[in-house]
Amino acid sequence: MCRAVFLLALTVLVCPAAEALDNGLALKPTMGWLHWERFMCNTDCYKDPNNCISERLYMQMADVMVKEGWKEAGYEYVCIDDCWPSHQRDAKGRLQADPKRFPGGIKKLADYVHSKGLKLGIYADVGKNTCAGYPGSLGYYETDAQTFADWDVDLLKFDGCYMDWKLLGEGYMNMSRALNKTGRSILYSCEWPLYEWPHKQPDYKAIRETCNHWRNFDDVYDSWSSIKSILDWTASHQDTIAPSAGPGGWNDPDMLVIGNFGLSHDQQESQMALWAIMAAPLLVSNDLRDICPRSKKLLQNTDIIAISQDPLGKQGQCTIKVDSFEVWERPLSKKRLAIAVLNTQEIGGPRGFFHQSGSWLEDL
Ligand code: GLA
Repeated sequence: MCRAVFLLALTVLVCPAAEALDNGLALKPTMGWLHWERFMCNTDCYKDPNNCISERLYMQMADVMVKEGWKEAGYEYVCIDDCWPSHQRDAKGRLQADPKRFPGGIKKLADYVHSKGLKLGIYADVGKNTCAGYPGSLGYYETDAQTFADWDVDLLKFDGCYMDWKLLGEGYMNMSRALNKTGRSILYSCEWPLYEWPHKQPDYKAIRETCNHWRNFDDVYDSWSSIKSILDWTASHQDTIAPSAGPGGWNDPDMLVIGNFGLSHDQQESQMALWAIMAAPLLVSNDLRDICPRSKKLLQNTDIIAISQDPLGKQGQCTIKVDSFEVWERPLSKKRLAIAVLNTQEIGGPRGFFHQSGSWLEDL
């Protein structure tokens, strides 16, 4: 196929270290909305119809994404996380959406989302069950991939609960092949390394060849300590993980929690800046229907989004840690450099940062 050949050439030029999954997707970090951190496994549509996991939630998010400038800013995928399916597969062994919460079914929801010019993401699990206990895909990879393709789904987040860790690689690779076999372009978001790290160092070459992005570390929470722990983990593993990022495949430090309850505005700015420097997928998990204007402005900041989406596709790294300051640098196209300076000291007011011998100063 011509496109595959072209993409391969592009990949070799841009990222000589490892080939990306050649499905032509995620050439820039994915942007969209994902329900998990904000809405979790709220299935009680009787008591909480506005916030439960139901087709209505995604339709309303899609509406807002178009009306409120999200789509224009680049946010494209409306993503379902765990807790969408029925606890039973259908008579043919296929996953089915919970009939009460998704009366129209996923295909209709995908049609709706597509009619808005957006894309639909769905969630499944490589093991026997999803993390919240719904049916997993183990033993059903081809069936589930085909079902998602038949529904016109555009992205699959594939979790790693309830799986023998020794079979994780095989499972993730088989699902990647099954998705490819459907002939539909489905962006493949994995959690393979996250579940492998406790047992062995993941093979990032294989992961990059298999997935469009991959989670490495714990779930993000709506708190500064959670954001800091993700940054600390990333900085301490950057030599291992950063080289594998590039057009077609990205390290995923999990969702943006900007616009929720747990971060001050400065902390929200820090998450936005650092996620752009890390070339992370920008998957927002908040209530777009009810978000404070400052957070919205931050999430739609075109300058930061341009850094995130820079065509060079290089992941930035932490280059200085001194006196509770961190400097993070990301090389950009046209010989530019994005720099973020983070003050991690949690006592006292604002502080000036002066550094005379940083590599970034020499580069400027
Ligand atoms: C895991 C994942 C989360 C979310 C939940 C759903 O914890 O890491 O991102 O998908 O499962 O149960």
